[in-house]
Amino acid sequence: MLAVTSGKGGVGKTNTSINLAIALAKKGVRVAVLDADLGLANVEVLLGLNSLYNIQHVIAGERSMMEVLVQGPGGISVIPGSSGIARLADMGPRARQNVLDALQELQENHDFIIVDTMAGIGQNAVAFAAACDEILLITTPEPSSIVDAYAMIKTIYQMRDDAVFRLIVNQALNEAQAKAVAAKMSQVAQQFLGRKISYFGFIPRDPHVQQSVMQSNPFMLRFPQCAAASNVQALATRLMQQRMDQTAPSRSGFFRRIAENLGLASNG
Ligand SMILES: Nc1ncnc2c1ncn2[C@@H]1O[C@H](COP(=O)(O)OP(=O)(O)OP(=O)(O)O)[C@@H](O)[C@H]1O
Ligand SMILES: [Mg+2]
Repeated sequence: MLAVTSGKGGVGKTNTSINLAIALAKKGVRVAVLDADLGLANVEVLLGLNSLYNIQHVIAGERSMMEVLVQGPGGISVIPGSSGIARLADMGPRARQNVLDALQELQENHDFIIVDTMAGIGQNAVAFAAACDEILLITTPEPSSIVDAYAMIKTIYQMRDDAVFRLIVNQALNEAQAKAVAAKMSQVAQQFLGRKISYFGFIPRDPHVQQSVMQSNPFMLRFPQCAAASNVQALATRLMQQRMDQTAPSRSGFFRRIAENLGLASNG
């Protein structure tokens, strides 16, 4: 389970989640995108989907995860989000168990689950991101985005000492700029938190991204040759490589961690 998160909003989480998922699916693995942005359900909007059921029905116990799941473009599975659902920590034990059971079911049927989270250090986003195996942290080169990303790193580390961050610099002018952003961030994290933040790659600022958003058609499919698409393809290749290098996928850790993060007793 990979969380895609950021400190600041609007930096490109949803576009990265969807297009990375499609790039992975192209390689023949089973990928699901879970829309965990409880504010605005925008995975569906970007994909031009309009589904009957969403994560809210899973939480309420009215539908199973596999019933709610829809087939998105490019061979990805999508679990639509819902605006205005309760924070995990505020849910009753029954609802929370429904969510955890459903995630388990999802994991059994997919090789990668990409969780498009909310921006910022709200409790839900942090609890969820911290429980994931890896956190793909998105920032743009703008100072405000970098500062907020750093705040996110700090908050998540407070919750989980061994969190694994991979920094993706979106909307970069070029590789040199992206690397400079990553180096700066890593240096600050090293200085104040005693941690290194690993640079995972960048996605260039590319007008095709906005065009594809306007058309509700992911750039990975609509403009597969564009600069953004080729970089996302490279990120997918790195993720696959990493997965193959791992001796055993850490599957069960998520459930223990999310319970710990929320201060709950895990009952399974
Ligand atoms: N690489 C890029 N090049 C050009 N424009 C981009 C790029 N990435 C994102 N954008 C622009 O930024 C907008 C926001 O992207 P996106 O919806 O993915 O961000 P987000 O982080 O999910 O936002 P939110 O926090 O609201 O969920 C896009 O609609 C697009 O116009
Ligand atoms: Mg989004």
